[in-house]
Amino acid sequence: MNILIKSDIDRGDAWDTFFAKYKPDLSVQIWPHDGPPEDIDYALVWEPPAGELKRYPNLKAIFSIGAGIEHLFSDPELPPHLPVVRMVEPGLTNGMSEYVVLSVLYHHRFMLDYRRRMRERQWGEIQQVAASARTVGILGLGALGRAAAQKLAPFGFQLAGWSRSPKDLPGVESFHGEGQLEAFLGRSDILVCLLPLTARTEGILNAATLALLPRGAAVINVARGRHIVEADLLAALDSGQVGGASLDVFQQEPLPVDSPMWDHPRILVTPHAASMPITDTAVQYIVENIECFESGQTLRNLVDFDRGY
Ligand code: NAP
Ligand code: GLV
Repeated sequence: MNILIKSDIDRGDAWDTFFAKYKPDLSVQIWPHDGPPEDIDYALVWEPPAGELKRYPNLKAIFSIGAGIEHLFSDPELPPHLPVVRMVEPGLTNGMSEYVVLSVLYHHRFMLDYRRRMRERQWGEIQQVAASARTVGILGLGALGRAAAQKLAPFGFQLAGWSRSPKDLPGVESFHGEGQLEAFLGRSDILVCLLPLTARTEGILNAATLALLPRGAAVINVARGRHIVEADLLAALDSGQVGGASLDVFQQEPLPVDSPMWDHPRILVTPHAASMPITDTAVQYIVENIECFESGQTLRNLVDFDRGY
């Protein structure tokens, strides 16, 4: 049995090492593969070139190296009959929770202001606000949104979440569907975007929706750049409607060197690095899934093509 891997970042020979440890009967073939295409049983990929995955006639399933799968859907020749599995593994989930907690606390504790004051050698305290006086609103209560909410809870923030279907999560006020978006945004002093990118969520943060946030709210985007209309966010930052933003993802990546976001005083930029799979735990997740599939059970975290995520 062979798995073809087209990786996201250079992980050295870590894929080989962990597949050898957890499933020695599965051989790793690193892309580009010049052996017979019919030998490939599974693919584990990030941003495969368009048309690549249809080359393997015996492919049984596609594993995405990311939680997001629009990098696969952008291939017009993606074989429609093949199951696609999202990456849902503890390393990726914990990394995202860390980034969200870090960013929420950064804005909650006025770090953008203290950073500016530090540069100006200005000594001056800002009145602290109790965590319980702020609501963190999470757009998307899936694998990552739910875990981030759980990690934020011990700080005492009020928590709200918005999803397609209603949720019953302890300590998280649930809003769902387009009809409840306005009420959700109106509560969100610190807004975290953890939605998948779909036709319904693209551009969801725009002039009209940003105007619904409490004045001075912080925006943390760790989902996809195309969720935000960047010009509208910049205008909202300039007017003070949005008080600050932590942006990990952008309309264009890498963020162009001349983007005004690099040195905007109210923006913190990271290079699409909020979280990534940890090779060891990611391999365990894939191996467990392959073993389920080979024994006739359903694959976990299958993408629903109709919903788009
Ligand atoms: P997930 O488990 O599929 O959860 C998606 C959530 O969004 C669900 O709660 C879903 O609602 C909700 N949702 C989807 N469409 C909606 C709509 N139209 N209206 C309201 N709610 C909607 O996804 P995940 O694993 O948490 O990952 C979320 C995203 O994070 C990924 O798609 C990826 O783009 C991004 N990500 C970024 C990084 C990074 O480093 N920056 C790393 C990992 C992931 P239901 O629960 O009702 O289905
Ligand atoms: C990263 O962006 C992911 O989708 O996992």
